[in-house]
Amino acid sequence: MSQKTALLLGATGLVGGHLLKLLLESEHFGRVVVLSRKSGGAKHEKLQEIILDFNSLDSAKPHFAVDVLFCCLGTTIKKAKTREAMIRVDYEYPLEAGRLAKEMGVGHYAVVSSIGANADSPNAYLRTKGRLEADLKSLDFAALSIFQPSLLLGKRQEFRFGEGLASKLLPLLSFAFAGKLKKYKAVAASDVAKAMYSAAYQTKPGTTVYPTDEIIKLAAAVSD
Ligand SMILES: NC(=O)c1ccc[n+]([C@@H]2O[C@H](COP(=O)([O-])OP(=O)(O)OC[C@H]3O[C@@H](n4cnc5c(N)ncnc54)[C@H](OP(=O)(O)O)[C@@H]3O)[C@@H](O)[C@H]2O)c1
Repeated sequence: MSQKTALLLGATGLVGGHLLKLLLESEHFGRVVVLSRKSGGAKHEKLQEIILDFNSLDSAKPHFAVDVLFCCLGTTIKKAKTREAMIRVDYEYPLEAGRLAKEMGVGHYAVVSSIGANADSPNAYLRTKGRLEADLKSLDFAALSIFQPSLLLGKRQEFRFGEGLASKLLPLLSFAFAGKLKKYKAVAASDVAKAMYSAAYQTKPGTTVYPTDEIIKLAAAVSD
């Protein structure tokens, strides 16, 4: 079996951390390169960790010579402090990574966006995600997988009040998220990682958008 190589951005985050573990344990991936601004502390024979300032992402261009690029970058306005800084993390870095990957011949880009992403949204976060999706589509990857989760469930180092409250309430209301509302159901960050991993070795040509219900279906194919 020929093994794939992966480049992962956002490996120190909630979704990215789960994805890194899956990739390192996978027989389908033989080499995993991680770009981070700080070390995540993982050690593995398949893992190469590159520490850099994402404002000079292009200095890491040779590392983009892989089969699959995964992007789980993201921030909040509270952490980023300014709108401009948030846009850098949620739009500029993922797009720049896409451009570098395209130039290096990457065939598949798998990226986490958000439910409700819409370039015309009055909400800054959803507009940023929508712009990212639109601009990534125009890069014309052989395969582009866009994941649009609703609220992410999982253990975080930091406390996020709104998410914390919603993550307690939404699972209690999960019976209400049926039919057309399925895509609004909260989803485990580990399931988003499984879905990204699963999509990467299935590699559907063209752009595929996975809302929460499709993420859950795809994740079910990957065992713990
Ligand atoms: N939270 C939700 O409920 C929710 C819902 C829908 C969609 N999403 C989206 O899902 C994706 C993954 O979310 P998550 O909760 O797993 O994210 P997370 O835990 O906050 O992790 C974000 C990752 O981005 C990196 N990052 C942030 N700012 C950076 C910067 N300036 N330079 C370099 N790296 C930076 C972080 O690195 P450090 O460790 O160095 O900070 C971390 O690896 C995001 O795109 C998010 O918008 C989230």
